[in-house]
Amino acid sequence: MQTPKRYLVTSALPYANGPQHFGHLAGAYIPADVYVRYLRMMGEEVLFICGSDEHGAAITLQAKKEGNSPRDIIDKYHPINKAAFQKLGISFDIYHRTSDPLHHETSKAFFKVLHEKGIFVEKESEQFYDEEYNQFLADRYIKGTCPKCANENAYGDQCEKCGSDLSPTELINPLSTLSGKQPVLKTTKHWYLPMGKFQDAVKKWVDESQTSEKWKKHVLGQCNSWLDQGLNDRSMTRDLDWGVEVPLPDAEGKVLYVWLDAPIGYISATKALTDDWATYWQSEDTKLVHFIGKDNIVFHCIIFPMLLQLHGDYVLPTNIPANQFMNLEGDKMSTSRNYAVWLYEYLKDFPDMEDVLRYALISNMPENKDSDFSWKDFQARNNNELVGILGNLVNRVLVLTHKYFDGTIPAISEEAETAILQKAEDVYDYLMAFPHELDKAIHHYEFRNGLKELINLARVGNKFLTDLEPWKLVKQDKEQTAKILAICLELIARLGVYAEPFLPFTATKIKDMLNLDEEAVQRVLKGSFRVKEGYEVSKPTLLFKKLDDKVIQPQIDKLQAIKDAKDAAKKAELAATDATYEPVKDTISYEDFSKLDIRTGTILTAEKIKKANKLLKLTVDLGFEVRTVVSGIAKQFDPEAIIGQKVLFLANLAPRKMRGVESQGMILMAASGEKLGFVAAMDEEMGNGLMIS
Ligand code: MF3
Ligand code: ZN
Repeated sequence: MQTPKRYLVTSALPYANGPQHFGHLAGAYIPADVYVRYLRMMGEEVLFICGSDEHGAAITLQAKKEGNSPRDIIDKYHPINKAAFQKLGISFDIYHRTSDPLHHETSKAFFKVLHEKGIFVEKESEQFYDEEYNQFLADRYIKGTCPKCANENAYGDQCEKCGSDLSPTELINPLSTLSGKQPVLKTTKHWYLPMGKFQDAVKKWVDESQTSEKWKKHVLGQCNSWLDQGLNDRSMTRDLDWGVEVPLPDAEGKVLYVWLDAPIGYISATKALTDDWATYWQSEDTKLVHFIGKDNIVFHCIIFPMLLQLHGDYVLPTNIPANQFMNLEGDKMSTSRNYAVWLYEYLKDFPDMEDVLRYALISNMPENKDSDFSWKDFQARNNNELVGILGNLVNRVLVLTHKYFDGTIPAISEEAETAILQKAEDVYDYLMAFPHELDKAIHHYEFRNGLKELINLARVGNKFLTDLEPWKLVKQDKEQTAKILAICLELIARLGVYAEPFLPFTATKIKDMLNLDEEAVQRVLKGSFRVKEGYEVSKPTLLFKKLDDKVIQPQIDKLQAIKDAKDAAKKAELAATDATYEPVKDTISYEDFSKLDIRTGTILTAEKIKKANKLLKLTVDLGFEVRTVVSGIAKQFDPEAIIGQKVLFLANLAPRKMRGVESQGMILMAASGEKLGFVAAMDEEMGNGLMIS
């Protein structure tokens, strides 16, 4: 693409089914915000679009879990997420919602265009149906046994234990999660996108895209792997009562597939924002960029572009700089296990520290591979980099300017200027190269590097101060001292301005301390800003404060507790599934063994003992006599079922009375916990009363 006229930037619409955690932020929201803020600062025309994704099983399942309606769920989480994003400074131009009528209209119209072009294939198929609830079951609504690993809690689309992708009909003993009953197969009609038919055009577009702006390796890799395998038909409609209704007469009770309607949400949100939406969506000189997490790649790089191509009226994305995943303290983040740090909790626990979070997340952003967030790293970045480098520089320079010159730069002789400028060559080299390096990083979606450039600029400033020691020089030469501080202030002005995309709250504070108005900001951006005689700075306020272990440790402990619980559950599961073996008892002599009189026998009668729910009263035929015994097996065996059972019987155990019945021996059982089994591997024709030896 030639230089774009305008930018249209989107972040993945998060499901309004729960709050946002650090992983979401580092994936699709903070990088987009840095990009957009930078573009705005450079005077580009840009719209930043986001909103809630309010349809699909993600919403209806959460509603079921919370015992609420889908509407309640989205009305609860939409405002929570909107407010949390805003607090963190994510500068969306609009945070729309897909439940909005405008979105329903827009996506229906989109579907209709494709339908009228004859793009969809109508197909009937058999799908699971819950007869009690009178509804077809989305894949996630079906549970059963995984055919690959025998996990009894596999879902209709996936087994979370072995990771296999499944289809509902593959499950062994499928059950509806609504009624708990076995669903029936019923014929239903759906509208499919025959993706195989259109994949060449997408492939061509993907290939050609690389000549104007290379996509990230891992993004392109995923796309090519999908395309190489060949694309299947994908149903664009669902049998559900929540979503955008299919705008056709013969489609009652059907809604659009959520991955069809959600990305169209980018278009409807733009419509809601501005009457000028078509200029953005329908001009070739718009640069459209989707920020997403890696689990969204196929939808944004293949399916939605294919839909856009087929529709024909819209621009396609120039780039989709997806991020990978961020782990947490070495473990996968997980909403269902509550193993995550939630944004709203952070905002509560760390007031006025939004920029610290932005800094830590950008520094660790999973741009090309998975990364890890740890609280120790967060603390170190705050203490060593934000407090130690950036905050320290700003504070020192302003304090010294006030101490030596009452906050106003005095007149400086040419001689003094030249003397210091000679020593400031490195500083100016960095200053001159810096905007270019930063610009390159941002346009390559390398936000970690961009932030590094910024903090390095502060490092350069600190080194300059330490090398020139104005606190010593001030006793001999006040004018040279003033020049040192003037140079530092020019550098800090750069920091204040260019920090804006990354650390917007801090940037404002720095600009305020330096009394930089909009006009001065523009001069900084053009590289023509100079600090001269009469330039006045305000009193410094502290930009960052140290975080000590007292604050950090509880956060670490909280996560550790969740990890411990998971480990304990895992152990319990192992204990329950695998046989555990009692250690072998002390050695005995044959003589000891021969004292046991073990006989073969058959259970003749069995009955419950009143008021003793574990005990059965049995009679056992030992061939030479019939014995009565009381046996603690009532929980495991029904009396009727064990009559005739062959058993091994300890015949010389001293009799004892239990519940008024004399027990004359003992039936031998194999036991593991609550599980019991008879030990009687005897040939059917083998008689009773035989001695085991
Ligand atoms: N809600 C989806 C998710 O959280 C993302 C939707 S992005 C959109 O994975 F393009 F479809 F809107
Ligand atoms: Zn499995």
